[in-house]
Amino acid sequence: MRKPVIAGNWKMHHAPEDARRFFGAFRPSWSGAQPDILIFPAAISFAAAQAALPDHPRVQLGVQNIHPEPHGAFTGELSAPMARAAGATHALAGHSERRHLFGESDRDAAAKARAAADAGLVPVLCVGETLDERKAGRAGEVIVRQLDAALAVLTPEVDVMIAYEPVWAIGTGETATPSDASGAHGILRRRLAEAWGGERAARVRILYGGSVNPRNAARLLASPDIDGVLVGGASLDPDSFARIAEAARP
Ligand code: PGA
Repeated sequence: MRKPVIAGNWKMHHAPEDARRFFGAFRPSWSGAQPDILIFPAAISFAAAQAALPDHPRVQLGVQNIHPEPHGAFTGELSAPMARAAGATHALAGHSERRHLFGESDRDAAAKARAAADAGLVPVLCVGETLDERKAGRAGEVIVRQLDAALAVLTPEVDVMIAYEPVWAIGTGETATPSDASGAHGILRRRLAEAWGGERAARVRILYGGSVNPRNAARLLASPDIDGVLVGGASLDPDSFARIAEAARP
């Protein structure tokens, strides 16, 4: 049984004081079984988020981006070992904004996932097709290609999560239907099974991301193929993120 994950990607929002305020007000109802909760704050707000984190082992912090090298003359970057030392447990790799706004390739994303794993972080590898790729019937091929680049450098022992985030659904208010998302998740899991075997593939949690909000979260999370959600805009408000977290309860 894969435990649900509710992850919030704050992107370039929430300065340190906002991060403190968020956790002061984030009060999901915790009775019964709980999902894993992950927040990816901006690096500069990481320490503030950590200081304000609810004292609960299920709530963890990650970083939005890392450089593949452990250290060096890379002005403005941060490394996986640094993130780990600061208390991060997870790192996004290959978010579509990194791919499309900052020109990161499949290989860059894979190298970052590998660097995260080497440092003891769980990489959350993001994959997803653009609207043009979808219209051209190439969605499956694109996400498999993105996954394959990571599988070329990761081994089955690595703890990894995948986030399927169709680019056309990110920040647009347009969400994939549960059946579209499930279809993509099925493709990814089958590919994982080919590479790593069915038993290992069955343990990888595959999240959906793209305009998830408190109104559509329960519907998406009801699908057995959707193991969690990666939330951008709706993760910024503590009440809305709490309602999404509560939607994951069995
Ligand atoms: P969104 O972002 O929820 O605002 O669409 C999702 C993401 O980029 O991870």
